[in-house]
Amino acid sequence: MSAPNKSYDPVEVEALKPENIERMRDEALAAFAAADSLEALQEAKTAHAGGTSPLALANREIGALPPQAKAEAGKRVGQARGAVNKALAARQAELEAERDARVLVEESVDVTLPHDRVPAGARHPLTTMMERVADVFVSMGYEIAEGPEVEAEWFNFDALNFGPDHPARQMQDTFFVNGPESAKGESGVVLRTHTSPVQARALLDREPPVYVVCPGRVYRTDELDATHTPVFHQIELLAVDEGLTMADLKGTLDHMVRALFGADMKTRLRPNFFPFTEPSAEMDMLCYVCKGESIGNPDRPCRTCSSEGWIELGGCGMVNPRVLTACGVDPEKYSGFAFGFGIERMLMFRHNVEDMRDMVEGDVRFTRPFGMEI
Ligand code: DAH
Repeated sequence: MSAPNKSYDPVEVEALKPENIERMRDEALAAFAAADSLEALQEAKTAHAGGTSPLALANREIGALPPQAKAEAGKRVGQARGAVNKALAARQAELEAERDARVLVEESVDVTLPHDRVPAGARHPLTTMMERVADVFVSMGYEIAEGPEVEAEWFNFDALNFGPDHPARQMQDTFFVNGPESAKGESGVVLRTHTSPVQARALLDREPPVYVVCPGRVYRTDELDATHTPVFHQIELLAVDEGLTMADLKGTLDHMVRALFGADMKTRLRPNFFPFTEPSAEMDMLCYVCKGESIGNPDRPCRTCSSEGWIELGGCGMVNPRVLTACGVDPEKYSGFAFGFGIERMLMFRHNVEDMRDMVEGDVRFTRPFGMEI
């Protein structure tokens, strides 16, 4: 058995004395416990667990010990450092949890706060739709024309070649303000039943060539329900010039549906009758959803056009020469085409509005989703 090695420097290993190691450990634990923020803990970590901390320095002294003392000192320092690191990790986790909880409270958003103290409101989609259609024609050089909503019966019917017995003149279809048969033979006064009287007004006001588009409100004695409203909107088009033909009408309609619904759109005409156009036609546009692909194709049904492939848009035709004559235009020299359709219907199928009442009730929850398009 060899005698204990007395050759090491007792001053150098002062740091390794058990009571000193314990003190270093306790100081470290106290510093961590006292750290009240992650920043403070970081400082305590550098001071008590970093590369120049008392315990780290003490650890380096182990090499100076005689071999038989090394193991015990190593164990002591190792245990102290282990305890220090464990306390550090625990405090770190504690402070991080505190910070996370605080951030959740401090940075939370109160979603119930009013976001928009002065609501911006919304334009009615019928207005935007009417302007959009009118713009297509304004960009082709057409002029916007207007007429009164309280209209002379003569403009609403007579000038447009409606015979005196035409059913539209009946009280059950038309709101009469005055008349219909005035004792003194005066023209009755109606709420206009269509925008077509603006055709007569435009022709009387101007010399041909006449190219006008007339958006406006019209009235019929219908009950308000999902597909009818007594007040609705139409847009009317009239072109009177030398040499205009049905081909010009067709080209104009095709251009309109392309501008409004996309480049691959087209229209088709079906024979019909209107007193103020001859020949007259019903105009359909290709269904802008299925593009006609639902016709006879049960695998691809289309809700928008009920798988018909086409959507009925309105009426059109070549201006009846009797209308031109009634408005002082020489039908030998001039010809014209016209068309008219309802804006509500167009809004219904373009935006899947299923109930017309939504358009008249004035609820902003209906208009808002259409946005503030100008
Ligand atoms: N005024 C017709 C209506 O309200 C629609 C119409 C048909 C207008 C043919 C036209 C037209 O300009 O040429 O039902």
